[in-house]
Amino acid sequence: MDHHVSLANEPQTIAQPHPFDPLSKAEILRAVAILRAAPGLSGLLRFVSAALREPNKAALAAGNPPREIFMILIDLTERLAYEAIISLNAGSLVSLTPKPGIQPGIVLEEFILCENAVKADPGWQSALARRGITDLDKAIVDPWSAGAYGDEKFPQCRLAQALTWIRGSADDVGYGRPVEGLITYVDLIDMKVVEVIDEGDTPLPPLTGNYTAQSVGPLRSDLKPLDIIQSDGPSFTIDGYHVSWQKWQMRIGFTPREGLVLHEVGYLEDGVLRPIMHRASLSEMQVPYGDPSVTHNKKNVFDVGEYGMGRMTNSLVLGCDCLGVIQYFDAHMLTMAGEVETLKNAICLHEEDAGVMWKHTDWRSNHTEVRRSRRLVVSFFATVGNYDYGFYWYFYQNGDIQMEVKLTGCLSVGALPPGVAPSHGAMVAPQLYAPIHQHFFSFRLDMDIDGAGNSLYEVDTIADPEDAANPYAGCYRPVYTQLTSEAQAARDTNPDTGRTWMIVNPNRLNAVGRPTAYKLIPGADTVKPFAHPSSSLIKRAGFIAHSLWATHYQPAELFVADDYINQNPAPHGIDQWIKRDHSLDNTDIVLWYTLGAHHIPRPEDWPVMPVAHCSFTLKPAGFFNQNPAMDLPPPTPRHSCCD
Ligand code: CO
Repeated sequence: MDHHVSLANEPQTIAQPHPFDPLSKAEILRAVAILRAAPGLSGLLRFVSAALREPNKAALAAGNPPREIFMILIDLTERLAYEAIISLNAGSLVSLTPKPGIQPGIVLEEFILCENAVKADPGWQSALARRGITDLDKAIVDPWSAGAYGDEKFPQCRLAQALTWIRGSADDVGYGRPVEGLITYVDLIDMKVVEVIDEGDTPLPPLTGNYTAQSVGPLRSDLKPLDIIQSDGPSFTIDGYHVSWQKWQMRIGFTPREGLVLHEVGYLEDGVLRPIMHRASLSEMQVPYGDPSVTHNKKNVFDVGEYGMGRMTNSLVLGCDCLGVIQYFDAHMLTMAGEVETLKNAICLHEEDAGVMWKHTDWRSNHTEVRRSRRLVVSFFATVGNYDYGFYWYFYQNGDIQMEVKLTGCLSVGALPPGVAPSHGAMVAPQLYAPIHQHFFSFRLDMDIDGAGNSLYEVDTIADPEDAANPYAGCYRPVYTQLTSEAQAARDTNPDTGRTWMIVNPNRLNAVGRPTAYKLIPGADTVKPFAHPSSSLIKRAGFIAHSLWATHYQPAELFVADDYINQNPAPHGIDQWIKRDHSLDNTDIVLWYTLGAHHIPRPEDWPVMPVAHCSFTLKPAGFFNQNPAMDLPPPTPRHSCCD
């Protein structure tokens, strides 16, 4: 018997979509037809993305906001990108804006076209022949974003730096045998190779790194079934994209750039929905590598802005990716050709047991009260070339919200001659090393603690001075410092002071007379970048210079590095925005928190990396008057090993 159940996942057959519902297939196709019928474009179009143009808060408050689609496309004849806004209500093109000088992110289908272009190029072919590689069918080619270093020979091209690997066999993923020193620059408009850089003659590593069940040798055979059984069904209810789970409520959204988006996250108390977050999403990513060798020193990828995390989302598999009773949501993606690809099971929603919520044993009477914790999980997984990232939002019965990123997949590796050790990485297999690198994830958290009037505090713990008031020299206390403006609110974690940040509503007091609040608690992963301020990396990814930023809500600010970051040497990101220095006192605040996962690779990360976790938590801190999970019923033992 299969205990894993997928609930019907077609909530998008809704006559009247909610203003935050993601786009349906029919809506995207209609928008493409409207755009194609409009004058002004040559007809040879490459579509990049179509996303809901979300109504801003003013339009939402006014009621009945227009349903609009925001589209990015490239006119190949003009070699020019456009933004289009299409009204689904009016059935018309609202605006078509040329964007000279910008390059939209690389589209998934361009991966295949780029690979084909490289493999057809005589210069690339002779580079492989020079290395004695003759079976070109075994070559695979990935387009890495080209960056913006100021030394590009073809800055006017839509550039990718394509890297090459050689498979051991047809079923081999291929990432274990990099062709070191071979970088092929491709113009993605013409799909033509513009430059082949060919340095060195490092031999291919001897092993393939293939990891399929057939290729890894005998599998362990001592695992007995471990079943998740929800015989009465789940405790959540779904209405379209609206989710209710006990006292939590939220709406599910999805965009091709960010992937999963949460809207209107709130907590129901005494019949009243108390807002917590208006919108939460992955805003940007950056993965800088530290290796100076020619194949790796321009590896720094904005996975959200240069590729699109939603577009690269996986279709999840019941019983493998997700256990229990699952509510899946599909996602509809505009393809390069202007069609729609429906990604089945793109978002997973389910419940998990989360261990003990609270417990006390009265040691005098031996009476124990214990409650089990359960969490609601909303997640998606995306594959960016060699790496795979899972993004998991957890909602707990005590009011905690946690974001956990799961990092797995194949390392981006380099080859070394026999006997040579890497200076900027670690050996993971014979003649194979993985360069040192980091993964930064920036989350945009549009906070609404009991409404839009919020203020921000930094909370440090400090030791009292050694004086008469501190006679045993052991006293310490929390210190709350208000961050009153945007320029003040570029902040770093500080493990020495146990630093957290509190977002409070000064207009609403709790039972102990303090403003209602949540605090943002950094996880263990708070590493800083090592690139110098003069680097292309820090100039383009200014957001990674600090762990926390806060801005006054601006509807157009969704992407912390810039709307267009691909090949952009001078983006206008959050480090620029905060120079306006708007007030953050009792107003609508957006928090931007960046996790930094530091990665000195290990042999154990090869051939596929076991999931590494990094996270942060939003924890109620006076939002409730007491432990909000006191009303959990005692658990009923139903399955036991001892009967
Ligand atoms: Co890594």
